[in-house]
Amino acid sequence: MGYVGLPLALLFSESKFAVTGLDIDAEKVKALNNGKSYIYRIPENEIQAARTRNFRASNDYGNIADLDVVIICVPTPLNEYREPDLSYIRSTAEAIAPHLRAGQLIILESTTYPGTTEEVLVPILEAGNPSGLVAARAGADSGNVFYVAFSPEREDPGNDTVARRDIPKVVGGLNPAASDLAKTVYGAIFNRTVPVSSPSAAEMTKLLENIYRCVNIALVNELKLLCLRMGIDIWEVIQAASTKPFGFHPFYPGPGLGGHCIPVDPYYLSWKAKEWDFQARFIELAGEINTAMPYHVVDSVVAALNRSKKALNGSKVLVLGVAYKRDIDDLRESPALTIIEELQRRGAVVSYNDPYFPKVGRGRKYNLQMTCTPLENLAQYDCVLIVTDHSDYDYQRIVKESQLIVDTRNATKGIQSEKIVHC
Ligand SMILES: NC(=O)c1ccc[n+]([C@@H]2O[C@H](COP(=O)([O-])OP(=O)(O)OC[C@H]3O[C@@H](n4cnc5c(N)ncnc54)[C@H](O)[C@@H]3O)[C@@H](O)[C@H]2O)c1
Repeated sequence: MGYVGLPLALLFSESKFAVTGLDIDAEKVKALNNGKSYIYRIPENEIQAARTRNFRASNDYGNIADLDVVIICVPTPLNEYREPDLSYIRSTAEAIAPHLRAGQLIILESTTYPGTTEEVLVPILEAGNPSGLVAARAGADSGNVFYVAFSPEREDPGNDTVARRDIPKVVGGLNPAASDLAKTVYGAIFNRTVPVSSPSAAEMTKLLENIYRCVNIALVNELKLLCLRMGIDIWEVIQAASTKPFGFHPFYPGPGLGGHCIPVDPYYLSWKAKEWDFQARFIELAGEINTAMPYHVVDSVVAALNRSKKALNGSKVLVLGVAYKRDIDDLRESPALTIIEELQRRGAVVSYNDPYFPKVGRGRKYNLQMTCTPLENLAQYDCVLIVTDHSDYDYQRIVKESQLIVDTRNATKGIQSEKIVHC
């Protein structure tokens, strides 16, 4: 019942499916059963409406036996060595297996490397169910079988221009019957389904999409560094290039990658590639460039302060926006966290403001324990650093009231001021 599972559950509920939302997080289960939301963009009335249509949350895996379709949307992070951490998929599969029954359809939605569904999920489900059920595949496609498919989630958080139903749903079943079942289920809520020949093809489809983004963002980030040196405005260049009616898709530079997907997913493939004696060099290079961006931002703050003969050590810096992208309440892998840590490490006195985060506590890699500072008395800061360009901010006012602004997102586009430094 996270960022992927909850909206999906609500879509199915809207189409009159009786949906059970399983989660091991007792707080989420309680919130949902009380009609409360813990995701900013999901209003409570949607959850309350779903409750009237039989939607309920639970942490009891015993419910699985009563369900026809089980869709797994658990996290797939990296471990500290940037290797895939499939522990959530494994533990979920282990919890499902004892309750499997013949004819059920199990779909994995978590982003992962090609082969996970067949090599990891299916063996656990087959080994752990007491009735000796097997996954339907060529040669064993009826009788004592359950069905398995992979279908990637393609949501773009914060994007209100494409309705969820209009995002085509790719499905890859372990056998044609599994593909057909998955196509039928998703066909009830998505306007278009796109069957592919196998779970691996579906897994790879998702990775291609995200690697395409990651590599192209790295490309513009690198070109931005060159443009800064050459005195050319990269944003102007991208805007002009975007007028080409074919063969160009714009990507934008920024303070570094964030979110659960783009900074993480490509490494799932580069890790798997090594099993095949293959180095995925574009992925590694893009990772190197994108990972360096938060440090470039900090160096830019140092250079900007230097203009007024100030050192970063002891300077007051206000970071505007900590979410990993505009207008969303998601902090995961946000470059703002690395930037704040690095600013503090170099002696800056750092505050932050973000309308979506009253507090920033402990995460997987950081422990900042900071509270959101009101957007007042901006002149007290030696530097205001725009990391996330939330649309709620009044950039005219921010520029007017601040001493110095370092802008990582072109949020101050169109505002002329000597105080603005683009980075
Ligand atoms: N967030 C996105 O925009 C997005 C987009 C596309 C794909 N994805 C992929 O979807 C997957 C899920 O991402 P998310 O953003 O929803 O993660 P999330 O952390 O928001 O949600 C995952 C949920 O799974 C629950 N969970 C963990 N272990 C469990 C278990 N054993 N049984 C039941 N529940 C369990 C957690 O408590 C949590 O509520 C990931 O693989 C991610 O890469 C995410």
